[in-house]
Amino acid sequence: MADEHVHGAPQPQAKDNLIPGVKHVIAVSSGKGGVGKSTVAANLACALALMGAKVGLLDADLYGPNIPMMMGSTTGPEQKDGKIVPVENYGVKLISIAYLVPEETPLVWRGPMVHQYLQAFFRDVLWGELDYLLIDLPPGTGDVQLSLSQMVPLAGAITVTTPQEVALHDVRKGMAMFQKVNVPLLGIVENMSHFVCGHCGERTEIFSYGGGERAAEKLGVPFLGRIPIDPAIRDGGDTGHPFVVADPSSPQAAAIRDIAQKIIAQVGGTGKEGVSIDSLLKKIKQPFTNN
Ligand SMILES: Nc1ncnc2c1ncn2[C@@H]1O[C@H](COP(=O)(O)OP(=O)(O)OP(=O)(O)O)[C@@H](O)[C@H]1O
Ligand SMILES: [Mg+2]
Repeated sequence: MADEHVHGAPQPQAKDNLIPGVKHVIAVSSGKGGVGKSTVAANLACALALMGAKVGLLDADLYGPNIPMMMGSTTGPEQKDGKIVPVENYGVKLISIAYLVPEETPLVWRGPMVHQYLQAFFRDVLWGELDYLLIDLPPGTGDVQLSLSQMVPLAGAITVTTPQEVALHDVRKGMAMFQKVNVPLLGIVENMSHFVCGHCGERTEIFSYGGGERAAEKLGVPFLGRIPIDPAIRDGGDTGHPFVVADPSSPQAAAIRDIAQKIIAQVGGTGKEGVSIDSLLKKIKQPFTNN
């Protein structure tokens, strides 16, 4: 991405705000693919909803949309007066290209098409009043990121990374892009930070340890927290049961709630402090079983 296209790009003004009912738009980004952005975005959205906020989750990964599967909601949205009513699950409003284009259709996006689809996701979806709209981005610094930053005012971006050096190299690039388009950096989440053996309890640092925190220090942005590697997290993604809902008393659920609180503290908005596990469990009406 050439500097002259992004440097000092103005944040969109209130007059052309496509989503006036949305208080805070937060992008979930990563430099590298497969580090857990969608997993973090889905669980963060559910955590914020459990804390009492009105939440939407926009799957802006036009190339590999995963949010419908991860949020356990693969049936498409309905229409009302020529607009799209977002799908809703776990108290989170959802939209994804996966709802609108048959799965087997290969999507070859050119820049202007990316822009048009993103615009439709804001303009033609009945988001209503929301405290937070989370945007699950594709990896890297491409058309989607640039279009997004020019289309809606962003409260900020969080970046998900794994702890090893090669992933962190890309974090720096990704964060530099957001800085150039004047999007506040809310911080770094270190995912897959360590593995605790379910049989013997031994801890293994598969991708090294602490790199996310060191990168946050170097970049001068907050370190939001770390999430361990756990087969249950992968399973929850595959079966549409985000871990913060499926297993609210797990360490990873506590970690994601803590990350949610840190984001609320930075951007402001709804989210009750010190929510107890009991009160969360009461909100989760039925036990989730794997399909
Ligand atoms: N902490 C974790 N422990 C175990 N599995 C995880 C964890 N985080 C993510 N995964 C799994 O790793 C895979 C990749 O995660 P995810 O799809 O969230 O990454 P992504 O960064 O959104 O990928 P992409 O760049 O392709 O959009 C998924 O199968 C997910 O379930
Ligand atoms: Mg993803």
